[in-house]
Amino acid sequence: MNKRYLFVNNWKMNLSFNETIEFATNNYDRLVELATKTEQKIILCPSTESIYPLAQIFKETPISIGAQTVSRHTHGAFTGQVAPQSLQEIGCTHCIIGHSETKKEFTENDKCIAQKCVHLLDYDITPIICIGETEQENKSEKTLGVLESQLAPLLNALNTKTTVRPYLEPCIAYEPIWSIGTGNTPNIAHLDTIFTWLTEHIGKHAPNISWKLLYGGSINPESISLIKKISKIDGFLVGGAGLDFQKIEKIVK
Ligand code: PGA
Repeated sequence: MNKRYLFVNNWKMNLSFNETIEFATNNYDRLVELATKTEQKIILCPSTESIYPLAQIFKETPISIGAQTVSRHTHGAFTGQVAPQSLQEIGCTHCIIGHSETKKEFTENDKCIAQKCVHLLDYDITPIICIGETEQENKSEKTLGVLESQLAPLLNALNTKTTVRPYLEPCIAYEPIWSIGTGNTPNIAHLDTIFTWLTEHIGKHAPNISWKLLYGGSINPESISLIKKISKIDGFLVGGAGLDFQKIEKIVK
């Protein structure tokens, strides 16, 4: 039986509201057929304002809708923020947190990502937590240390939280920053080291959670087959290529 991968399409702020609806309606039949026939999990993550209409369009199909960020608070006087409860109410099942672009733009730190993760789990939303090193850190062989410190507040917070519902399967997405949008993907030896370490590390520090491990960074129809060779990878976070149905189809197939 083929492995059931997760394909998370992060549309970032590339499509306007109208363009998002247009993409979804124009590709509705093909996306639903692709997910149904291949039995792969496809998640579309539009900007916040498009989550509700997309969740309506893809209601009762195997396509899921995710968010790109969430507030670290649950409610209150936080201008410009979106609460996890609202995401749940509008049909959002997944949420990306800690993406390097969000971290840079909103000075989101690792402690606040851990808070977001706990709240998302409380509201029945699967968190997709991004971690990854810069090019400089990679060159100076600091990658594992960087990942360990990015994960520390998260693993700490989840260890004290005993009620992660097993079906939520939180995702950790390894996204080397130097690979995002650049066309450069890590070699197999690097990925093997990272995913072996990640499996052991989370197994040791949060053994009761059923994690999924994703890779993100310049996934395209050409790079995917090499990266799929790493058996510990359960899915992919796709940026640029996820804006083109033909590329999505090739990546998923
Ligand atoms: P990319 O983006 O596939 O365009 O490199 C990945 C991401 O930012 O999640």
